[in-house]
Amino acid sequence: MSESLQQLAGLRDQAVAAINRASDASSLEAARVRYLGRKSQITAILRGIAALPPPQRGPVGKVANQTRRELEQLLGERERDLAAAELEAEIAAGAVDVTLPGTPPAPVGHLHLLTRTRREIEDVFIGLGYRVLEGPEIEHDFYNFTALNHPPNHPARMLQDTFYIDPASLAAAVTLYDSEGAPLPDSSAAGDRDVLLRTHTSPMQVRGMEAQRPPLFMIVPGAVYRRDSDATHTPMFHQIEGLAVAPGISLADLKGTLLAFARAIFGADRELRIRPHYFPFTEPSVEVDVSCFACSGGGGLAGGDRCSLCKGTGWLEILGAGMVDPNVFGFVAAAGYDPAEVQGFAFGMGIERIAMLKHGVPDLRLFYDNDVRFLEQF
Ligand code: DAH
Repeated sequence: MSESLQQLAGLRDQAVAAINRASDASSLEAARVRYLGRKSQITAILRGIAALPPPQRGPVGKVANQTRRELEQLLGERERDLAAAELEAEIAAGAVDVTLPGTPPAPVGHLHLLTRTRREIEDVFIGLGYRVLEGPEIEHDFYNFTALNHPPNHPARMLQDTFYIDPASLAAAVTLYDSEGAPLPDSSAAGDRDVLLRTHTSPMQVRGMEAQRPPLFMIVPGAVYRRDSDATHTPMFHQIEGLAVAPGISLADLKGTLLAFARAIFGADRELRIRPHYFPFTEPSVEVDVSCFACSGGGGLAGGDRCSLCKGTGWLEILGAGMVDPNVFGFVAAAGYDPAEVQGFAFGMGIERIAMLKHGVPDLRLFYDNDVRFLEQF
């Protein structure tokens, strides 16, 4: 066999091996260039045929062309196989199993029942034309007690078990007042009972009137603090204060306003009852009951059982209220509150109490335990 035929046989074997080894389009292209390209040895052999001795030209030319065609065909097949395999891999990688269950969206939380109750109550009063104000939780004795007609040694001051704040712990820029409302030069002049955590939202009655001349229609939601702790008392809880002052405001306006409130929160069929009571800053003072929504005010249930919500009385106590005492107006006379010209009513309710009644929550502390099994129910 001629040298060229031997060389062609060797090249063919190498090329077949290289083509089979190629694992992707680029290594296959490299094999094509190497064995069939312009600078390849097979091309060189074909070009050199004319220079061979005449008897070798026919056989070498035939084998060289056969080899080239064979390799071209092999390359084509391998190229198709690789492309198909690549497509397979791509499809497998991007596969979506539409029969799998979807990824459930992460549950979004919702507002705490107390926040929702506060907003519901705010909405009712906003609808009646009231403004919503907020005030400080650290308060002067003067606003919490004195200006609300509890003079310094008034026994009602003792009703509130109060958390007191060390005046020296406050920033120097804070102006302190003594219990009569006189500004003090610095904290060393303050008594240890002059600053406290407000025991109710009522101090904002005075602050609200100081800030705005009559007529005034405002509510004040916020946290209040008392040294109490049991199933119906927590050291921190929330109230909503209300105050309406204008010429000619009467107890009838108080009752009509609170009836609208009670019906919005507890149902359109509710009735209201007011009972005489005592608060230092209102005269007369009342406690307000709403007819029980569980037994429709009858006190009994369909099967003859006593209604457990109202304990058979047919009424639920919801808040304290009254006509603003003229003495309170005396503390804000400079802002235009003359009891000969304006009258007002005030009320205060516990947000927790409203939520407990409305939703049948048996223990106040559940609101603060942060147990989602409880919170998720509302
Ligand atoms: N401040 C009273 C309390 O915390 C509640 C209250 C009663 C507020 C009568 C009022 C009111 O505005 O008129 O017990």
